[in-house]
Amino acid sequence: MSRLFRVKPMSLLSAEASEEGEHTLKRSLGALNLITLGIGAVIGAGIFVLTGQAAARYAGPAVALSFVLAGITCAFAGLCYAEFASIIPIAGSAYTYGYATLGELVAWIIGWDLVLEYAFAAATVASGWSGYFNSLLQQWGIYIPPQMTATTGTPLVFYQHQWLPVMSLPPGVSATGLPHATGVFNLIAMAAVLAITAILVIGIKESANLNSAIVIVKLAIIAIFLAVGSWFLFKHPAVAQANWHPFIPPSDGHGNFGWGGIPKGASRVFFAYIGFDAVSTAAQEAKKPQRDMPVGILGSLAVCTVLYILVSMVLTGLVSYKTLNVGAPVALGIDATGVSWGSMLVKIGAIFGLATVMLVMLLGQSRVFYSMSKDGLLWKWASAIHPKFRTPWITTIVFGLFAALAPAFLPIDRLADLVNIGTLLAFAIVSAGVWVLRVRHPDLHRPFKTPLVPLVPFLGIVSALYLMTQLALITWVVMISWLVIGLMIYFGYSLKHSKVQKLATVAEAD
Ligand code: ALA
Repeated sequence: MSRLFRVKPMSLLSAEASEEGEHTLKRSLGALNLITLGIGAVIGAGIFVLTGQAAARYAGPAVALSFVLAGITCAFAGLCYAEFASIIPIAGSAYTYGYATLGELVAWIIGWDLVLEYAFAAATVASGWSGYFNSLLQQWGIYIPPQMTATTGTPLVFYQHQWLPVMSLPPGVSATGLPHATGVFNLIAMAAVLAITAILVIGIKESANLNSAIVIVKLAIIAIFLAVGSWFLFKHPAVAQANWHPFIPPSDGHGNFGWGGIPKGASRVFFAYIGFDAVSTAAQEAKKPQRDMPVGILGSLAVCTVLYILVSMVLTGLVSYKTLNVGAPVALGIDATGVSWGSMLVKIGAIFGLATVMLVMLLGQSRVFYSMSKDGLLWKWASAIHPKFRTPWITTIVFGLFAALAPAFLPIDRLADLVNIGTLLAFAIVSAGVWVLRVRHPDLHRPFKTPLVPLVPFLGIVSALYLMTQLALITWVVMISWLVIGLMIYFGYSLKHSKVQKLATVAEAD
């Protein structure tokens, strides 16, 4: 039994970090760079697409409160994450932290769970990206056969020069009489993931400057949206009043809208916050990691929370929440202000902004799989490095194909729900981990301490589990099946091939 909870020694972690030459990275990132990095990974399909769907289907204008609730859940987990990141300030992820502190089995579960999170997150963002890209093409009069722009079986209609899913038609508009088509597969989303996969195989020089430029574009688009939208609402208060009233629409009797719609919406828009943990992967490039990592994680989270609340308020003020179930809701919102260049600008910004999120997610996925394979927990091919490109190419291609097929056939909301349940589980485990570690190793040097332990980890666990309960049964079934497959691999392969287990056996024999 104790074998399952063997931890990876810190000395081994540091040695491996040096082996990979990571110690030679320049420590050049300050707190502000880390916050920028976090924002770059976070702002994506969540705010640009899912906000509209959550407002239209679950919460109405009160989606702003859903963002508050999801933000609080992330803050608890973020505080716990920050403590881990400060204890082990080497490039890593929750998997590495788990392995060093809570033992192999827990690390395995987190790692396997993160693979689900990252691969499906890339797929979700690709789906969102395709919505904006297709919308831009149609605005320019370029039409891809509609059957290849939506997932299998999606009914589409041609309305106001655009092919749209029937469910995105504004209320009161009947589909009868409009030209029809049915989605076969989403070619655009698939092509997007394959293109990003190819970039990752060839290898990108991660450039802080490029990331900063894209972050500036994303923030500028959001700032323009907020400025134009608020100005319009200020000039036309009657529009805002009509759209915000009632702020919490009455319940539909199926748990949507009403007070119950707020947590349901939160469990969906939670996706918008995912990615702030990406900051921890830059630990070895941070000037003062122990001080700045927590600032980076919590700072990016704080900036995004404020922006999300503002965007959702302005968006639901500009147009009725009932019309927001579309692929490019933010563009629809800015259209309502009558600013003709606004929607094109938003679409172009979203296309660039979402592409970087896909890149970060697929990169994160390959890194986790690579680390697990290096530790002997997964087959050797998963850490095979391409002789020329020096990238973990097989892992990248295998999961790239997997992530490319997912958005081709599954709708964005199903994909996002899977990511959310996986990430919420990881948050609950990380929160529990901080608590367990305080009890087991109270004297460990902790440059950043999660405040109010055990209250904050406890609330982290409870809030994550609560949001998980808001997700559909099918999402639970898929997650549990994924974990069962993972445990089968762990007991069938990993336990026998684990490097840490082998080292411990050698040490015991000596
Ligand atoms: N938070 C990221 C997004 O919204 C994953 O796209």
